[in-house]
Amino acid sequence: MGLKGVILAGGLGKRLFPLTKITNKHLLPIYCKPMIYYPLQTLVDAGIKDILIVTGGRHAGEFLRLLGNGAEFGLKHINYTYQEGEGGIAEALRLAEHFADNDRIVVILGDNIIEKDIKGPVEEFKKQPKGAKILIKKVEDPERFGVVALRKNRIVAIEEKPKRPKSDYIVTGIYLYDNQVFDIIKALKPSRRGELEITDVNNAYLKKGELTYSILDGWWTDSGTFDSLLKASNLVAKSEAKRANCI
Ligand code: DAU
Repeated sequence: MGLKGVILAGGLGKRLFPLTKITNKHLLPIYCKPMIYYPLQTLVDAGIKDILIVTGGRHAGEFLRLLGNGAEFGLKHINYTYQEGEGGIAEALRLAEHFADNDRIVVILGDNIIEKDIKGPVEEFKKQPKGAKILIKKVEDPERFGVVALRKNRIVAIEEKPKRPKSDYIVTGIYLYDNQVFDIIKALKPSRRGELEITDVNNAYLKKGELTYSILDGWWTDSGTFDSLLKASNLVAKSEAKRANCI
């Protein structure tokens, strides 16, 4: 069974304005590399060679100039597609339907940076008969994310940016889906902030009883705010393994 990779790097990066006035958020530096290098490396390290980058905004062409066909990552080819506007993570993912072509996909948000790798969860997902798997992580500021409510080690609900989080465990921007994901997205309605929410996709799998999870190994951070952008650079700078890639 094929497993393909999708990096979501659309959106307008408004929270990082004016840094994102003349470039795309995912091209900003995280220590010694442009942000997009990290999620791309995460997929490549998990053995995924067939990759689609969903981008958008006014600087989409720069991704091609920066990455080309991914030779620096040992790839033969990279696929690209373009999201109009910023209708949400699930809307961006919808653009991957043709690329996925009934295969399973590993989706990673373009601003998610991790210390280690996702080989373990990817192998587990390959054995899972159907459904989805999310990677969760304990954080100090869960209210900024999709938060999982756990009962006896089972996920009972996922809430997007709740005022009163029911746990410290959040859903990272790494998702593994079977091909039902595209029908689920087609049935979604925009949220109050006018976006198709990835949390609604995960809750749809939960409702079917087809959602599993793993706790991500090593540190994790997003990098879409001034504080998390700085934090990501500092974490990479401190990580021996990550610094080794800074040539
Ligand atoms: O980082 C993990 C979190 O990401 C999850 O815990 C949340 O459940 C999930 O909703 C998401 O939250 P954010 O509010 O941080 O997502 P943000 O709007 O910053 O988008 C994250 C990335 O997704 C962004 O770097 C590019 C991609 N994206 C986002 C939007 C809104 C797109 O490709 N297109 C879009 O329209």
